[in-house]
Amino acid sequence: MPTRSIAVKVTPSPAARVSADALALLVTEEDLEGEGAGALRAVDLALHGHLRAAARAERFTGQPGQELELATLGRLPARRVHLLGLGTLEHAAEESRQNGHEPVRVALGRAARAAVQAGARSLSVALPELVRDDFPGAARAAVEGALLGAYTFLRYKKADPSRPPGLSSLLLALPATADRSKTLRREVALAREVASAVAWARDLVNLGPADCTPTRLAKAASELGRDKRLKVRIRGPQEIAALGMGLFLGVSRGSAEPPRLVEVGYRPRGAAGRRPPLVLVGKAITFDAGGLSLKPTDSMVSMHTDMAGSAAVLGAMRVVAALSPPFPVHAVLGACENMPGGRAYKPSDVLRAFDGQTVEVTNTDAEGRLVLGDVLAWAKEALRPAAMVDLATLTGACMVALGTTTAGLFGPDGKLLEAILSAARTAGEDVWRMPLTPALEEQLKSERADMKNTGERWGSAITAAHFLHRFSGDLPWAHLDIAGPAHAQKDHDYVASGGTGFGVRTLVELVRGWPEGPERPRPPARTAAPRRSPASATPRAPARPRPRPRAR
Ligand code: BES
Ligand code: MN
Ligand code: ZN
Repeated sequence: MPTRSIAVKVTPSPAARVSADALALLVTEEDLEGEGAGALRAVDLALHGHLRAAARAERFTGQPGQELELATLGRLPARRVHLLGLGTLEHAAEESRQNGHEPVRVALGRAARAAVQAGARSLSVALPELVRDDFPGAARAAVEGALLGAYTFLRYKKADPSRPPGLSSLLLALPATADRSKTLRREVALAREVASAVAWARDLVNLGPADCTPTRLAKAASELGRDKRLKVRIRGPQEIAALGMGLFLGVSRGSAEPPRLVEVGYRPRGAAGRRPPLVLVGKAITFDAGGLSLKPTDSMVSMHTDMAGSAAVLGAMRVVAALSPPFPVHAVLGACENMPGGRAYKPSDVLRAFDGQTVEVTNTDAEGRLVLGDVLAWAKEALRPAAMVDLATLTGACMVALGTTTAGLFGPDGKLLEAILSAARTAGEDVWRMPLTPALEEQLKSERADMKNTGERWGSAITAAHFLHRFSGDLPWAHLDIAGPAHAQKDHDYVASGGTGFGVRTLVELVRGWPEGPERPRPPARTAAPRRSPASATPRAPARPRPRPRAR
């Protein structure tokens, strides 16, 4: 069931009186002490003390992560109650404040999944008063958690009447003291917007590679153009060739599917629209077989998710349009497959990038950096960004380093990296900064060309980041390696197995939490250059001289 079709209501009625199939109670350890407190006490009274009796019997004390589910046997409008422990009030409040209410998001994700599995159509939620100073923020996290937890991907399943119907409504019961202001309504609306963008991104990632070809991915992007605030432009192989994007074309050569260069632009009206944009770049390999450096079968089966970076970036653009920030934001993707066809690029090929740099191909499975390098170089030239952020399922090595739920963040020191770390924290996504160790850059040295596309095994997530850095140049730039968190092996918290939509929330928060927008002191020579509308920008002569290609 798409999260769009889950109705969300905020109600002043006490949770104990709200009629729903299931009731989620987020409880602190204090709520269970003495006579009980908060919504728990009211529910316990309605159940004639059975709730606290059950908690005692099951040793449920409200510790973080503890859960208890019980049937209400007609004594409550809700058919079942699901208690979710948050720990002590102090602990929960601190966690909530520090981590963008992540414990609330997690608890509601679990509650929603359990409710769906139990066949509930409606879920009511009692939020505790632990975050009195930011109740709207907690409500937002609750709605995001519940909507994301209720996500399922059923496109490839046959209709099955015995399958639970999914949630169609979510009711937030507020504590009596909570503020019911416009802010609250706005945060709830934002949560719905974000959850639906994440679900949209998850759907794209979960499609099989035959259903999400570069052409189909570009079509999904052009559908975003139905929102009049977004302009979409799609270029095919001839235009990509005319631009001179030799790395991108090299990767796409082994596939029967034509590549697509996709641009989605948001631009505010008036003078703000002429500010240099924030540019978001997503890796969009719709299937990564490895090319001639073919992957073994087991590593290949999840490679339909190698476009997750682009799904996140596109998902974020939906929300950006709704947020209408006072600076332009653009998404750019180079969509193609990495296949070992008869025309495939080969180890030892030398490719020439948009900006004139040449790359000796040492491994065709390091394709992401090639396409991204070209796209970064092109976007830098054509869009004159204030800052660029790329999201990419770039290296297995990043998963070795950080596990499967944390993204690696790379880039030079500066405001942009700080802003991303803080955005991720507020969004409840795990991002950890990684170093750009200089010794690893040296491994990119090539005898035959300006660089190779791979170095040695150790630290290869860092080598990959160095490679990208050569194409982003001196712009404020950040690279998020999302190889781990883009895909989940099994359900957890508010994440369903499959594509996770990781990155959408951090990007949204980056744009939201940056009211002044990215600002770049412009080099004098460029300040005078006339600005053109990026959706129709033809790049000027490249910055670097472009010698004729050498014979291969
Ligand atoms: N798409 C993969 C990275 C990846 C691996 C993502 C596992 C998600 C899960 C990328 O194109 C790739 O193949 N990277 C190689 C680079 C190597 C050849 C230097 C890798 O990580 O092994
Ligand atoms: Mn690869
Ligand atoms: Zn890849």
